[in-house]
Amino acid sequence: MTVFEATCTAPVNIAVVKYWGKRDTSLILPTNSSLSVTLSQDQLHSKTTIRASADFTSDRLWLNGIEESIEKNKRLVACLRETRALRRTQIEDKDPSAPKISNLAIHICSENNFPTAAGLASSASGYACLVYTLSKLFELPLDASDLSIVARQGSGSACRSLFGGFVAWEMGTKEDGSDSKAVQIAPETHWPDLQAMICVVSDEKKGTSSTEGMQLTVKTSALLQHRIKEVVPKRMEDMIAAIHNKDFPKFAELTMQDSNQFHAVCLDTYPPIFYMNDISRAIIRIITEYNKDGVKAAYTFDAGPNAVIYAPKDNMAEIYAILSHYFPNAAFDDSMGLLKETALPSLPKSF
Ligand code: DP6
Repeated sequence: MTVFEATCTAPVNIAVVKYWGKRDTSLILPTNSSLSVTLSQDQLHSKTTIRASADFTSDRLWLNGIEESIEKNKRLVACLRETRALRRTQIEDKDPSAPKISNLAIHICSENNFPTAAGLASSASGYACLVYTLSKLFELPLDASDLSIVARQGSGSACRSLFGGFVAWEMGTKEDGSDSKAVQIAPETHWPDLQAMICVVSDEKKGTSSTEGMQLTVKTSALLQHRIKEVVPKRMEDMIAAIHNKDFPKFAELTMQDSNQFHAVCLDTYPPIFYMNDISRAIIRIITEYNKDGVKAAYTFDAGPNAVIYAPKDNMAEIYAILSHYFPNAAFDDSMGLLKETALPSLPKSF
């Protein structure tokens, strides 16, 4: 019996203009556009193998070696439904000799090469990888932006991991979400001097998930409305210009301001959401002090206490030394390891 198979990897991305809030929770349409940097796959990636066979009796999923239910996972079901429909309309309906893979049950095996405990953006690389691997299995004639529309329905931030380099998720205006997609602002080769360091502050699972947290913010925060309408549109333009000009001080200032506002919006949520802890705030103070005579590094925090620091390559050793000075056990302590990571981004890979 023929078995169809594809294996791919996909990278993690870290936003510098954050996505926070949905205007449509089932299609995953955001309340603002966002922008991220895709990190190198050398250290952090998701890897997925998918097989389709007439011998399989049902769709099954293994995440990091443990079987999970597919039916309960509405977002995964949506990605499968969308890609199977694309296989039918784009290939099987047009070419009667094409194998009817869309009718076969599939087995999905996905793992992250980084500890899930590190609380990094595993849903972004995971869903980007799932959709990219499905597109290879089904031989879909689609580009990365088209695929981002499907990956977005798995996890919003996943749509940005379909590209390397600097990636915007354009919020779009259409109700069906057909224009809410990722586009590449600059390729991975554009700014090789920019690097990222990930500081694992805590490996505890976060208290409030992004999905729950952002909808509570949409419901209760007046500051979010100001952010959506008055701040992000201009910030997106300024960020894109800073990236095109490789203007690090501007890029850094906008990145830190956006992280600060995202966490302010979390605090303005009722009841408030706290993602940063005392160590996160200490890192902000250390970087602020380091930037006293000129901006040399930028911090950003997602929905958890871990810091990502962007800086030019030449500053990284110094930043690492300063952080190691303040947190001497960092490299050895499980609860606060420092992971060094270069931001020479790369595209999803297929094998
Ligand atoms: C703070 O993409 O995890 O990392 O769409 O509900 O799956 P869902 O949320 P998710 O949210 C990411 C939020 C963020 C900011 C960002 O990556 O832009």
